[in-house]
Formats: sequence, C-alpha cells, structure tokens
Amino acid sequence: MQAFTSEQINQFRAETPGTEKIIHLNNAGAALMPAIVKASIDQFLTAEYLAGGYETAADQREGLDTFYAAVGKLLNASSKNIAFAGNATDAYNKALSCIPFEQGDVILTSFNDYSSNQIAFLQLKKLRGIKIVFGKDLPSGGLDPADMIQNMDIYQPKLVAVTHVPTNSGLIQEVAQIGRACQDRGIYYLLDACQSAGQLVLDVKTLGCDFLSATTRKFLRGPRGTGFLYVSNRVLQAELSPLFLDLHSAAWSKDNQYTPRKDAKRFELWEKPYALMLGAAEAVAYANQIGVDRIEQQVKYLSAYLRASLSSLPRVRVLDQGLEKAGLVTFTMAGEDPVQLQHFLRKQGINSSHTTLAYNRYDMKAKQADWLLRLSPHYYNTLAELDRTIEVIAQV
Ligand SMILES: Cc1ncc(COP(=O)(O)O)c(C=O)c1O
Repeated sequence: MQAFTSEQINQFRAETPGTEKIIHLNNAGAALMPAIVKASIDQFLTAEYLAGGYETAADQREGLDTFYAAVGKLLNASSKNIAFAGNATDAYNKALSCIPFEQGDVILTSFNDYSSNQIAFLQLKKLRGIKIVFGKDLPSGGLDPADMIQNMDIYQPKLVAVTHVPTNSGLIQEVAQIGRACQDRGIYYLLDACQSAGQLVLDVKTLGCDFLSATTRKFLRGPRGTGFLYVSNRVLQAELSPLFLDLHSAAWSKDNQYTPRKDAKRFELWEKPYALMLGAAEAVAYANQIGVDRIEQQVKYLSAYLRASLSSLPRVRVLDQGLEKAGLVTFTMAGEDPVQLQHFLRKQGINSSHTTLAYNRYDMKAKQADWLLRLSPHYYNTLAELDRTIEVIAQV
C-alpha cells in the first residue's frame, strides 16, 4: 500500500523543482534536493559573500547546530553522539582508524560490504597484519546472522563491520541481530548505513551499533559533500580517537600534551563546508518531518512495483536478493552495454546509474553479471514515471 496520497506526492514534487523536467531514478547516487535545502545553502553563501565566512558562521551558529539535533533525531541518538563528515567514506574511515588493531586481529564482515570498505580492510591487512573473515550468505541473499554470531565466538573479532543496504542490490542485511550479539560480547560494531539513511527507519538503540556512517546526498536528499558519523557512548568513554586529531577535535592542553574532546566531535575536523552543512541539516529535518517510516513504506512500494514490471521484460534479469528489499532495483540485460543503456535512458529524461565488477567483486561474480543498471526510486517518484521507464527500457 502507498504511504502517501496523490495530493501529498504532488506537494513533495512541487517542493522539488527537479521533478518537473526529469524522471530521477538515481536516488541511491544523489537524490534531488528539496527547494528549501537549496534556499538555505544559497542564503548562507550569500551571507558569506557579503559579510565574511567566519562572521557568518558565528551569526548563524544556532542554525548550524541544528545539524546535530536533526541527525540525532533521525537516529534516535543524542546530538553529542553525532559528528559531521564530508561523506560516508570519510565517516567510515575515521571510525576504522580509531580501533587499535594489532597483528592478527580480526575484522568480521560480509561479502556485500561496500567496495571502499573492502579496500580499507585490505589496507589494514597490509599495514597492520589484520585478518578479514567473511560471514556466510543465506541462500536467499544477505548475511546469515547465525553464522555471524558463530564467527564472533570462533574468531573473537576486534570489529564487526556490516553494510546495511549494499550499493548494488535491493538487499537489506539483517543488522540488528548482529548488533545485539556484538553488544553481548563487547565487540565494536561499525554499520555502513550510507544507502539506508533517509530510506529506512534507523534507531541506533535497536541496531546496537557503535558507529553508523552515512552521507546526506542519497536518500536524505541533502547536498553533496556532507555526511555524518554516529559514535556510541561506549566508544567515547573508551577514549578511542581517530588517527589525526586537530585543534577542534582535541585541545593542545600543555606543550607536550593534547586532550581529545569528550563528545563525537572528536571525529570531526575544524574546517567544514558550512553552507552545505546547513543544507544537510535542512534536508534531514525535512525527512524527519515527513516521517522516515512513511518514506520507507513508499520506497518499498515503488521499488517492488518497478522490480515486478522489469521482470516481465524480455532479456532483463533482475539481480536483487534478500527476503526484504530496499529501494535499489538492479538488473542486467543480455547483449547490452551499460554505458550506452544509461545514456539512452538519460536521453529520454530518465536518470539511472550503472556499476561494474569493481563495485563489488564478490556480489557481481556470485550473480554472474559483468554489469548492472540501478534504478532507485524515492517517495517523490510516481507510478506513471515508473511505467514510462519500463516503456523506454522495453524499446531498447
Ligand atoms: C553502501 C555504501 N556505502 C558507502 C558508500 C560511500 O559513500 P560516499 O561516496 O559518500 O563516501 C556508498 C556510495 O555509494 C554506498 O553505496
């Protein structure tokens, strides 16, 4: 069932001028920003232009601080547990860098974790001699929580790292059960929520994570160049710090001494793109106001509709897995080239994205696919837009 009436959807579209000209099905890349997000960025940049950057930041401190409150509300966390980040990978790497890995330590992860995360694990393997252990996938796709828990007991990992919604499938990984098991065993748990933030309800208390990293440009509809990291009290109290602090994340307290901040801003740097940060705060508040539970329902509805329609097309192979699926719809098409297919759709006014083997070597190999095209609807898309997309793909 749809979560919104057609009047409400029309209202969202009226507040999103980009929807007038294009069918934007690349929300898993970067969603269309609502007009108020752009307005807040424009206003801040103009103020910087006229009054000076530092002066504007001081004048609009209260507005900028809403970033922490809005993200805290989104995650059911306190603002003191939120750090601003430039993007999801920046947030993720800061979290990774604070774990005191030693030779032989284990990171337990999944085959579906994001490519940049896998590269960081490989770097840690090379630099610190850690071991990477992968949990088994269920036949339906996605992590088997029972296997993960068994691996926790066998390998006693220093860190469990899981991607909630992988980038190239509709899969939603079962992450809360893993979080509870990590908490029971005192293992640090890093959750990549880059694709789930703004699309699925996220509650860090239920998820049981120590870190949650995300960008705001995807389903949260914020500007590019903004993201955040949630850091648990357990991590803050253990006095873990990211590699390289600055004069914002720590105080230079004596000539030969520094004191890291007590709150999650320990994971930030002093300089930030303030106009974008304000835009991100506006975007998160907008999602909170609409209600992520209703957004989730609508995105699931639209993506199930799209998946079913695509499955009926000849030569199309839908690649999504998992018992419960999110708003990332992926398929491949025999005999086609992904770049040309994406261009063809773009010419017809439809935005999509494509990925190849390097985006997830394990996943793509298991699916025996060299490439896939990804369509990712959001709650402001309409069924008519999805029907038009299917019509265009049928013409290929
Ligand atoms: C699951 C997942 N994690 C992390 C990232 C990286 O996000 P960013 O580009 O903001 O660093 C992406 C980007 O697509 C992603 O899909």
